[in-house]
Amino acid sequence: MSILLTGITTSGTPHIGNYIGAIKPSIEQSKNFKNNFLFLADYHSLIKNQDPELTYKSSLEIAAAWIACGIDTKKVNFYRQSSIPQILELSWILNAVTPKGLLNRAHAYKAAVDLNENTDPDKGINAGLFNYPILMSADILLFDADFVPVGSDQKQHIEMTRDIAGRFNNTYGNTFTLPEPIISENTPLLSGLDGRKMSKSYNNFIKLFSSENELRKLINQIVTDSLLPGEEKDTKSSILFEYFKAFTKDSKLKDIKRLFKEGMGWGDLKKMLFEIINQELSPLRQKYDELMNSPESVEEILIEGEKKAIIQAEIKIKEVREKVGIKPLHG
Ligand code: ADP
Ligand code: TRP
Repeated sequence: MSILLTGITTSGTPHIGNYIGAIKPSIEQSKNFKNNFLFLADYHSLIKNQDPELTYKSSLEIAAAWIACGIDTKKVNFYRQSSIPQILELSWILNAVTPKGLLNRAHAYKAAVDLNENTDPDKGINAGLFNYPILMSADILLFDADFVPVGSDQKQHIEMTRDIAGRFNNTYGNTFTLPEPIISENTPLLSGLDGRKMSKSYNNFIKLFSSENELRKLINQIVTDSLLPGEEKDTKSSILFEYFKAFTKDSKLKDIKRLFKEGMGWGDLKKMLFEIINQELSPLRQKYDELMNSPESVEEILIEGEKKAIIQAEIKIKEVREKVGIKPLHG
């Protein structure tokens, strides 16, 4: 029975790009697997963010968002990385078989070094960033994941995980499954209000759980051209159309294309887009608000998931410890 596993770094508030590109497809995908692991990569987030308030808030918001969007927490093992100490234990064991040269080649680390051109190459780089791929390998290998859905920027980390698993298996005998990445090439990246990729880094995003009024205001800010009502609008170059596409069933999209062709005004198109997005998000927003007002219920759901995940983590770490020779001394 195949195992699907993925992690979400707890940095910042989810936006509708995350919803379209990650949350919604992952929840759909999880329905096809009996054995699912989905976790908050909160230890990974410490590498970038050292504001405790933000770390706490982001974990709560992201957990609440995934629950509100419909992750089946009875079926999916939903947990925090930080609640499974075996991940850190394995991470150290993997450090010992990972060549430093492999980590030198990691894109994220190299990009940070490149930013330091002409100065000390280590400036502002913490050891956590350097070791990031090992912690990620531990996340994956501890649960014997077969498939790992990730964005294309994470592909190298899965290749490294396979490499590290292979080295361990060669040294100590077959122990770890070599995971395959699942990279959905056909999930388009949603543009932000200004036309660049929607991202926290560009501050051009629409918060997934904006209030109705905020959502309406932000949709009104989406950049369009200056064509007037009555003039035919091009769907291909339109950010607004991209949003229609992300939130509308294929069968309805034909009608929207027709409205563009017939020259519906941008103002009316934006009103219509608001209605469509709001209709989808409104029940989720209500659930999200309830969860945010009751963090203890989110905590409870995570603790349930953690109880299940830790049983499997304990079995695997015991096997790994024995393989490397760390075991009781009574023979
Ligand atoms: P950000 O760029 O805002 O920092 P993250 O890197 O935290 O977003 O993204 C988490 C996941 O959400 C990514 O792996 C990707 O699958 C998805 N994602 C992020 N931005 C977008 C977007 N604009 N469109 C579609 N999916 C996105
Ligand atoms: N590094 C991933 C990201 O930034 C998050 C992550 C951490 C992850 N551990 C993982 C993803 C294990 C998949 C599997 O998106």
